[in-house]
Amino acid sequence: VRVPYFRPSIGDAEIDEVVATLRSGWLTTGPRCREFEERFAAAVGAGHAVALGSCTAALHLALDALSVGPGDLVLVPALAFAATAEVVHHVGAVPVFVDVDPATLCMDAAAAARTLAALREGRSVAGLSPPYGRARAVIPIHYAGVVADVVALRRVTADHGLSMVEDCAHAFPGRWREAGGPWRHAGDGADVACFSFYANKTLCTGEGGMATTARSDLAERIRTMSLHGMSRDAWRRFERGGSWDYEIVAAGHKYNLADVAAALGLVQLRRAADLWERRRVLAARYAMALADLEGLLVPAEPPDRQSSWHLYVARVRARRDEIVARLAERGVGTSVHWRPLPMQPYYRDRFRFRPEDFPVAAREFRRLISLPLFPDMTEAEQDYVIRELRSALAWAANPSGS
Ligand SMILES: Cc1ncc(COP(=O)(O)O)c(C=O)c1O
Repeated sequence: VRVPYFRPSIGDAEIDEVVATLRSGWLTTGPRCREFEERFAAAVGAGHAVALGSCTAALHLALDALSVGPGDLVLVPALAFAATAEVVHHVGAVPVFVDVDPATLCMDAAAAARTLAALREGRSVAGLSPPYGRARAVIPIHYAGVVADVVALRRVTADHGLSMVEDCAHAFPGRWREAGGPWRHAGDGADVACFSFYANKTLCTGEGGMATTARSDLAERIRTMSLHGMSRDAWRRFERGGSWDYEIVAAGHKYNLADVAAALGLVQLRRAADLWERRRVLAARYAMALADLEGLLVPAEPPDRQSSWHLYVARVRARRDEIVARLAERGVGTSVHWRPLPMQPYYRDRFRFRPEDFPVAAREFRRLISLPLFPDMTEAEQDYVIRELRSALAWAANPSGS
């Protein structure tokens, strides 16, 4: 492989902090997790932050904290990662998929409004016929790092009295604003925002996640449920002055983050501005180098958005799979985010979806290609990707070479 799809940016500072954690004698949830929560909350302007083992855990606990339960309906974009919909099942609720906006590939607010209007009137929507439960929440994804149209989505959720859980797995440290307003961090304004620190994310702890919220009651419920439903500060029971006793107030989960992982997060958070800047520079270089290609649509930041540039998702005109294969042969790693969930066997068979139920997601999926983009990518590596992509696109436009 000449250029991998992704390489994490782990330096001596991260390694030293992990070693210090190992030497401290405290490996699991403890002081580093608490510090990471405080610093992350400050970085995204959130009132409360709870460190968790993954973004999936955060999404699950967010729905639980908002009392979404059996039979309830939760709107999820059709172009979504497995986690975003599976957590709906985990609380016994039913996912209702909504098509995406062709420009951002995030949930289309107008389509969400149409779906909710149909549900309110008791009509059928794709995959769901009456009788059905009550719509309770919407989970937009800030796809690739561009914040969805949360202003329009919030109007829709307010009209229908729904909660909004934002899937911010890609979104740190992206920003958005209302026209003429101040910049706000991704997740600001959500009932609960859920971040991922998985190995290839913009801030990485190997595995890890964070739930942020302005509401102390939600934060408290999420914290309690993240550790077996034990009463607050159960982790302190082994400290000097701590007590062995705790109370189990609910049947919780084992979703806490380890201090070894939080050690990575603390250092990555200190580096966040530099890591973001590097991604922005590389994204701008791709755009410059690829803008003239007719067979390729490069991603752009919509007005009033600053992408985190977690992913660089371009769209080809045709022959995506052959282009991916050709690039792989030439040592360029790529990925596709994602096959739409309604086209995955589990959802397709269970809800009897047809691709035409979500025409934008189905059409755009066939064109998606995520190019390598990571802070430690060198200009020489990027130039190689650009050269090979240009060559693959020229071949795709004229495969016989005539
Ligand atoms: C949109 C989205 N949501 C949620 C997740 C789950 O994140 P985690 O692996 O931290 O559970 C991912 C992971 O890639 C994702 O892309």
